[in-house]
Amino acid sequence: MSINPHGGTLVDRRLNAEQAQHLLGQLTDARRITVSNRVLSDIYMIAIGGFSPLRGFMNQADYESVVENMHLTSGEAFSIPINLPVSQEEYNAAGEGEKIVLVDGNGKEQAVITVSGKYERDMENEAQKVYGTTEDAHPGVAKMYEHGPYTLAGDIDFVNLTPELDFPEHNLTPAQTRALFAERGWETVVAFQTRNPIHRAHEYIIKCALEIVDGLLIHPLVGETKADDIPADVRMDCYHILMDKYFPDNRVALSVLPAAMRYAGPREAIFHAIMRKNYGCTHFIVGRDHAGVGNYYGTYDAQKIFNQIDLNSFELKPLMFEHSFWCKLTGGMATAKTSPSSPDQRIFLSGTKVREMLKNGEKPPVEFSRPEVAQRLVDWATQS
Ligand code: ADX
Repeated sequence: MSINPHGGTLVDRRLNAEQAQHLLGQLTDARRITVSNRVLSDIYMIAIGGFSPLRGFMNQADYESVVENMHLTSGEAFSIPINLPVSQEEYNAAGEGEKIVLVDGNGKEQAVITVSGKYERDMENEAQKVYGTTEDAHPGVAKMYEHGPYTLAGDIDFVNLTPELDFPEHNLTPAQTRALFAERGWETVVAFQTRNPIHRAHEYIIKCALEIVDGLLIHPLVGETKADDIPADVRMDCYHILMDKYFPDNRVALSVLPAAMRYAGPREAIFHAIMRKNYGCTHFIVGRDHAGVGNYYGTYDAQKIFNQIDLNSFELKPLMFEHSFWCKLTGGMATAKTSPSSPDQRIFLSGTKVREMLKNGEKPPVEFSRPEVAQRLVDWATQS
C-alpha cells in the first residue's frame, strides 16, 4: 500500500499534444508573460504534482493562511507560499478569468494560467514569517524582493510537450517514482534531500535510516541554488560513486528534484517533506540545520517545527538525526547519542568547510568524505 499524495490526489496539470494545441490555438491573441527560471521550476513542479494539492499559484486566502498558519485553507499543512510574480503593468492589466500564456526567456510557451485573482504580497511579513528574517543577505529573501509584491493566482495547464530537464535519465516525476517503488516492492521508502555531495555525515544518517525501511531515494535538489553551492553535475558524479561502491544496489534509487532551493530552513523542511510525500516516500530525513543558510536558524529548528503540524494526518514520518561527526574515540561516524567521546574527540565537518578546503587546494580528509568523492571534488575545484 502506497502513501497518499498530499491532499489525497496526485495533481497532473500536463496537457497532451492535442489538448495543448487546442488551447494554444484559442489563445493566439492572448497576453503573454515571461517568467524567470525560478518560476519555471515552480510551474513544472505544480504540473507534475510535486506540489500537490496545488493546481496552480496560490490565491490570497491560501497565501495568507500559509504565511500565517502554515496550512492551506483546505486544512493541509503547507509551509512555503507559491506565487506567480509579475510586473506592476502586468498586474494592472490582468483580469479575472483571463487566460495568460506563460513563456520562458526564449518565448517558448510553458503553461497557461486562468487568472482567478491577484494581490500584493506583504513581503516584509512574508520574509519574517517564512524565512525568519527580513535581511536581503538571505538568498531566499533576496529572491522574493527581486520578484516584487505583485502576484497572480490561478490554476495552470502545462503545455510544453518537451520540457528541457536536467539529468533526464534521472528525472522521474512523482508518478514515476511511485511506480518504481511498487516495481521494487518497497512499501517504506526514505527520501534524502540534499544540495551537496554526500559526505560521511550524510552517509551515516542515510544508513541509519536505511536500517528501518525497505528502500532509499537519494533525491538531490537540482533546481536553482546559491552560486557558491557545488554544481549539480559534479554532485551527480559523487552520488554515482557512492551508489556504485558504498550502497547496496537493490535498496537505493537516485532521482533528482527539479525544484528551487529557498534556504528557508524549518519552513523548507516541511515543504521538502511534502514534496517527497508526493513522490511516494513514507519517510524523510531531517538532520542538522536542514535547508539552512548562514546563521539564520538553530541547529534543530527544522526538526522542532514538525511539532506544529499533525503528523498523523501528514502520514509521512520525518526521521530526525543529530549533528553527526567523525569520532576519534570509536573510529567511525557517530552522534552524541551513540558515542561517549569528549568534544575534542569529535571532528565536525560541513559543506561550507569542504568548500573552503577545496578553495585552498586541500583534499577533504577520509573523516569527511569517501576518497573517490574527495577526488572528484578536487578535480572540479582545480578546473573551475
Ligand atoms: S540541505 O540544504 O539539503 O539541508 P545538505 O545537503 O547539507 O543541505 O543536507 C542534507 C541533509 O543532511 C539535511 O537533512 C541535513 O540536515 C542533513 N545533514 C547535513 N550535515 C549533517 C550532519 N553533519 N549531521 C547530521 N545531519 C546532517
